[in-house]
Amino acid sequence: MISTRIKTLRPTYALIDLPNYSHNISVAQKLSGGKVMAIVKANGYGHGAGKLAEYVKTNNGIKSFGVATVSEAIKLREVLGTDVDIVVLGYIDKNFYEEVYENNIVLTVFDWYVAEDYHNFLKNKGSKASIIIKLETGMNRLGFDVDNFDFEMFIKKYDRFDISIIMTHLASSDSDFQYTNWQMERFDTFINKYNITCATSVFNSSAIVNFKNKYTFTRPGIMTYGYVYADYNVNLKPVMHIYSKIVQKKRVLKGEYISYNGTYRAERDMVIGVIPIGYADGYFRCFSNRAHIYLDGFICPVVGNICMDIMMVDITDVPECAFESEVELMGEHVDAEMWAKWSGSISYEMLCAISERIPRVYKT
Ligand SMILES: Cc1ncc(COP(=O)(O)O)c(C=O)c1O
Repeated sequence: MISTRIKTLRPTYALIDLPNYSHNISVAQKLSGGKVMAIVKANGYGHGAGKLAEYVKTNNGIKSFGVATVSEAIKLREVLGTDVDIVVLGYIDKNFYEEVYENNIVLTVFDWYVAEDYHNFLKNKGSKASIIIKLETGMNRLGFDVDNFDFEMFIKKYDRFDISIIMTHLASSDSDFQYTNWQMERFDTFINKYNITCATSVFNSSAIVNFKNKYTFTRPGIMTYGYVYADYNVNLKPVMHIYSKIVQKKRVLKGEYISYNGTYRAERDMVIGVIPIGYADGYFRCFSNRAHIYLDGFICPVVGNICMDIMMVDITDVPECAFESEVELMGEHVDAEMWAKWSGSISYEMLCAISERIPRVYKT
């Protein structure tokens, strides 16, 4: 790891395990029983979308990728070339339709005004384009109301659209199976009503693991990064690992305070380790006095307030020889779910929040 650390110009770095990502994609492929659109928005949930997508295009035959913004889509197009579908699942401002068109990006139509604007744009170009139709079934976010969407009128009016997928998004496939079934029933009713034969897509990660997929494409995100909320273990592997080292050891006497504002007072004489990671890296300040790191078999609690670039851990009980090892902040022993508990959040947010200042190193 020494040479890796030198390349990153910092002892703190994220090791992104591409074979683990590919393994998780395989799990999603098997459980989906259909095609997988790999969700790599937010720079691949913080892991680096381009590297991930390239890897699973080659190793898993993934041909479809979902992102949230036009700039994410363009970056991916530059890396992946022209032989994959890149879908923007979110809103696109009409000022950027030119970029959408030039880069052959699939736009999501979720409202009549979007259909009207994009169709007019295509008319002016004298061209056609692929779109996804997003239906609202219970998330109450983006989408046409499934009960009132006149599909016949839509296809009659907008003949420049090639509808590649009709989709909906599940709100609670990790927590409320009854609600999830209700959303699926609403979607299925629509599909049957209009005898729809084009591709469909409903399942996110927890649906893939908790339900049997019957739609054309699944859209796994979080499970491909190693995490999912499910009733049983599907053998996912964490993709992001964050390592650093102790850059100073310090004796602290009983009664002394550690870090800003004295939120930690030593109850005994202790040894602390200083680690160069802080909230500007995505190691949240609310982890202060709650989180722990792993050091060669030892769990070391964070002591005192986390600073912008630095934090301290209790290493009193760690023997001298352990300090040759790197400290693991996230990985096999400390996972993103623990981070989520410490901050009252979810693994998604923890991964996305790892800032650019932490260099990503890719294991192939
Ligand atoms: C439209 C859409 N599809 C799929 C996903 C992937 O969801 P998950 O990460 O839970 O698998 C997301 C993520 O939020 C999404 O917004």
